[in-house]
Amino acid sequence: TDRYCVFGHPIGHSKSPAIHAAFAEQTGETLEYTAIEVPLDDFAGAWRRFVEAGGRGANVTVPFKETAYRLCDALTPRAERAGAVNTLILEADGRTRGDTTDGAGLVGDLKRRGVTLSGARILVLGAGGAVRGVLEPLLAEAPARLHIANRTADKADGLAADFADLGRVSGGGFESVEGPFDVVINGTSASLGGDLPPLPNDLFAPGATAYDMMYGAEPTVFLRWAAERDAATIDGLGMLVGQAAESFCLWRGVRPDVDPVLGALRRAL
Ligand code: ATR
Repeated sequence: TDRYCVFGHPIGHSKSPAIHAAFAEQTGETLEYTAIEVPLDDFAGAWRRFVEAGGRGANVTVPFKETAYRLCDALTPRAERAGAVNTLILEADGRTRGDTTDGAGLVGDLKRRGVTLSGARILVLGAGGAVRGVLEPLLAEAPARLHIANRTADKADGLAADFADLGRVSGGGFESVEGPFDVVINGTSASLGGDLPPLPNDLFAPGATAYDMMYGAEPTVFLRWAAERDAATIDGLGMLVGQAAESFCLWRGVRPDVDPVLGALRRAL
């Protein structure tokens, strides 16, 4: 049986094994997918041992995405840009190729939900690794503009500069936010602590969508704030299933159907 896994620390609550088991059943693929907790100082050793034990590929989550990026023998252009890898692929010649599917998962989720990105005014909140990983696929949809706002303004400016060749992208602190926007994506970890970035009340254009990369049984504080201002709201559960589907497709060459798996996960939250 072909073996896959997700590497992280901690990894106990990962939904990836259940998602990939559902994909395997749905597509008739025979594979095994487990969660492996990796010591913080031995990511390379964990991957090597997994390959020796028959591993064909892996997902990578917090805090190893940058470590995984540095370990790869080859990278896809989007992983190169992101500076991070969430999918390891063992090539036939034994080399390790790295890709990142988070951005494709996000864009796919927005599209499945009927959100138009082409020509849209997009605001992205945050400038950490999670945001860097989704900028290229968002800009590939040709938005009218994309502004990155972050607590630490310099990091948003730096990100904007790094992606300036891909479209109209700007950056700044939260005070730099000037709406209205059609799509506002929260990529900060602020909602983990129940915090809300300081945002103007007139942020949303009519018909706008608010997206939080986080998810939980209850709406995040950002999504509650957005709903009070009449934006449509989407949480990050679909992005999670979407990035998994993209990884599965890279490994197996078949694209699973996201919706039934997402529905089951939602009911179990
Ligand atoms: P990740 O990999 O999740 O992106 P990260 O690289 O540590 O993690 O980035 C976390 C992001 O959340 C950053 O943009 C951070 O802002 P700073 O760059 O100013 O640190 C943002 N963030 C975290 N807590 C926040 C809070 N309470 N309010 C606003 N932004 C916050």
